[in-house]
Amino acid sequence: MHDSRLVGRERAVSALDDLIAGLARGNGATAGISGAAGTGRTVLLSRVLGAGSALASCVPDGIPFGAVTQLAAALLPPAEFGELVGVCLEDRDGAAGRLCDTFAALAGERALVLAVDDLQWADEWSLRWFAEMTGRVGELPVLLVATTYEPLARGHRIPLAPLPPVEMATLVRQVLGELPPSVEAAVLDVARGRPAVLRELAERWAVAGRRA
Ligand SMILES: Nc1ncnc2c1ncn2[C@@H]1O[C@H](COP(=O)(O)OP(=O)(O)OP(=O)(O)O)[C@@H](O)[C@H]1O
Ligand SMILES: [Mg+2]
Repeated sequence: MHDSRLVGRERAVSALDDLIAGLARGNGATAGISGAAGTGRTVLLSRVLGAGSALASCVPDGIPFGAVTQLAAALLPPAEFGELVGVCLEDRDGAAGRLCDTFAALAGERALVLAVDDLQWADEWSLRWFAEMTGRVGELPVLLVATTYEPLARGHRIPLAPLPPVEMATLVRQVLGELPPSVEAAVLDVARGRPAVLRELAERWAVAGRRA
């Protein structure tokens, strides 16, 4: 299925759609959407979110279990969440296995999507869990998907290059409308295939326009 809100990215969308279809048949997998900052990783990640999904957004704060507890909180009632976090903090070395068992039990009831945005900033304990979960998803209806700067060592690789100039020009016109050619060329030069830079420009101009 092509997402009309996205410009280009057909291969990535098709790879993700295949993984979602596989999950519907009970097949788990790990996938990494990798690319430089601003290339549109998060918007692709959001494509796999639906019923049975949990999303963690990572920030480089190093809080132990910061990422994986976001996933647990989205799926567990408070009492179970509290017990799980308590056990993990008491026995950090055993935590990855315990967390995997918890998600495996949830996946016994319904297929799960566990999505981690900006995995490169996850704390070391969440990364340990992610590595162990990667080894478990083959036998579970769990789709484990992360966005990263660098490709994942294991799992399906969905690399995002900067958007090619023709597609970027289409996006510039969608977002900013028709521009004088010199302005459009400048925007393309600055954005260099990264939709996030274009969105930022558009927001700044919108604010400036409101002030003017
Ligand atoms: N291919 C695309 N077509 C249309 N819009 C896009 C495309 N890729 C990204 N966007 C839009 O550009 C903006 C930035 O994208 P996104 O947040 O996914 O980038 P990112 O790579 O996750 O950025 P960051 O490095 O800041 O995390 C969003 O508003 C998103 O909807
Ligand atoms: Mg992002």
